[in-house]
Amino acid sequence: MTPKLSCENIWKIYGADPKEFLRRHENNPSEADFAGEGYVGACRDVSFTVEQGEILVIMGLSGSGKSTLIRCLSRLIDPTAGAVKFNGEDITEANESRLIDMRRRQLGMVFQNFGLLPHRTAARNVSFPLEIRGLSIEEAMTKAHNLLKLVGLNGRESYFPHELSGGQQQRVGIARSLAGDPELWFLDEPFSALDPLIRREMQDEFLRLQRLLKKTIVFITHDFDEAVRVASRIGIMKDGVLVQLDTPEELITNPATDYVRAFTKTAPRQKLVTVGKIMLPGVGVPHGLSISASTSIEEAAPRVLRSEFDVTVVDDRNQPVGRITRQGMIAALFPEEMAQ
Ligand SMILES: Nc1ncnc2c1ncn2[C@@H]1O[C@H](COP(=O)(O)OP(=O)(O)O)[C@@H](O)[C@H]1O
Ligand SMILES: [Mg+2]
Repeated sequence: MTPKLSCENIWKIYGADPKEFLRRHENNPSEADFAGEGYVGACRDVSFTVEQGEILVIMGLSGSGKSTLIRCLSRLIDPTAGAVKFNGEDITEANESRLIDMRRRQLGMVFQNFGLLPHRTAARNVSFPLEIRGLSIEEAMTKAHNLLKLVGLNGRESYFPHELSGGQQQRVGIARSLAGDPELWFLDEPFSALDPLIRREMQDEFLRLQRLLKKTIVFITHDFDEAVRVASRIGIMKDGVLVQLDTPEELITNPATDYVRAFTKTAPRQKLVTVGKIMLPGVGVPHGLSISASTSIEEAAPRVLRSEFDVTVVDDRNQPVGRITRQGMIAALFPEEMAQ
């Protein structure tokens, strides 16, 4: 099946003549080429696909190229090279009118700084894209009220942005981005400006909305805990390069670089790593305990640690696929301590 979104060898280079620079270095400029000639490689040869209904999280430190990448995906800026395919259509080739149409009907965007219009009420902010699409004020306002209700803001329709808290302003931003009923939803650090408690509440809210709406989503954050809460898969960027793209469990157990490892340090690994990941070949004692490969090590730990014998691991058809030892469980629970 065609992926909903596919990003193929995207480069975004800033400098005097980026296209010429890239060509001259045969599409593979080195760090020294960038530094020596004063070019910035904000995105460097980034490729990935996003499947229908998936939440792909892109994370990385500030300046690693996340916003540049998401802007290339939505064609807010033009990549220096590479293709972005949306339902198989190369949108780097799309003309201005096709782009405008796509932004109105197929793409939704939410930004970190909310980006609301200060002199419009919450409802008029949400109705704005609908008015632009040619809906009558009445129709647009009816839709806007429904959308505000969806994000939990009923009663606040006539408030101006400055009369709303940060969390409420971002709810308006979310409602507005949903006005066109987008197929693809881009969120660039939507909750980064919010207090930790509000942020958590917004993450829950976002997940509730997604269960309802089932969008295909590219979500940017610099916070691994947030990434883990919302992601199907996580891509980690460093200096414009997509260093690793994997499930949270895979990133934690098999980090490609020290940079990735550093990000995953605070992750709740007991919840994310499953028994299937740490099992050994063979089976436990016959007729002994068995445990499903998809169980988290946190849930499995009490049983494994209490058992005198190796515990058999079974797949979802209850077939034995491996065994797990007490030592293996301890090493998985306390990787740092065991490595010392
Ligand atoms: N318009 C621009 N001109 C020059 N450099 C830019 C421009 N926009 C972004 N950059 C540079 O590209 C890099 C990536 O920036 P950005 O995508 O905003 O990172 P992030 O969103 O991960 O914090 C940074 O080094 C930034 O300074
Ligand atoms: Mg950014």
